[in-house]
Amino acid sequence: MAKKLIAFGDVHFPHYQPVALEILKKAVARIRPDITVCLGDLLDCGQFSQYPPTFGVPETDYEADLAQANGLIDFLQKHTQERTVLIEGNHEYRLDRWAAAHAEGRGAYNLLAPRIQLMRGRSGCTYIPYGSADGKYPHYKVNGRIVAVHGWSYAQHATKEHLRKSQGKSILHGHTHRCDSSIFPNVWGAGTVQARSAGCLCKPVPLYGTGRPVEWVNAFIVGYLGRRSDTLFTVDIKGDFAILPDGTELRV
Ligand SMILES: [Fe+2]
Repeated sequence: MAKKLIAFGDVHFPHYQPVALEILKKAVARIRPDITVCLGDLLDCGQFSQYPPTFGVPETDYEADLAQANGLIDFLQKHTQERTVLIEGNHEYRLDRWAAAHAEGRGAYNLLAPRIQLMRGRSGCTYIPYGSADGKYPHYKVNGRIVAVHGWSYAQHATKEHLRKSQGKSILHGHTHRCDSSIFPNVWGAGTVQARSAGCLCKPVPLYGTGRPVEWVNAFIVGYLGRRSDTLFTVDIKGDFAILPDGTELRV
């Protein structure tokens, strides 16, 4: 039997899209994946941004955002059979940059850092930090053929760019909020290699001053991981419903 994978990214609590997130949760509860991967930017961490708040977007309490994120991780762990993986995004990493720049930030770091506050008391859960001391890009090895990262590029052809740099591995990423996929014959071996971006589960609000919200898609990835090969699908959320690869319709 192939192992089952669900990967999603860019929830950006508190700017999440409630209906889209509910559909993801229904998919997780139904599929009961062996591995669930959050591809980063689970939290927006807007409170620690160097940029001023976006006009018209209500400000929230960071601790309330953390509680929402922890509630989602609890749910994922409950329905995930083997391992839940949290890959840190550039938004969670804001907190590290803020802490490094402020004396009070260094004091409060342990109380605030997502890598500590989202992992407290958990087993069966892996956290992949955003930065690395050795200059290697942090990633999670889903299996011998697939890696998962937050995202290296926001460029128009970011997904292809990820595949060019992934050295013969298939690669899943978030960060762009778009749904792109690129599948190539594997010139290093048999079959194909592919890169796939997971879309996002946040509202299409131009919060960050970059990006093209009109291209953002609420979606997630479902994968079947065999012994020798894998098949990956992108499930786009069509307003209040989505159709899984096995034909099941999920509706909120
Ligand atoms: Fe990001």
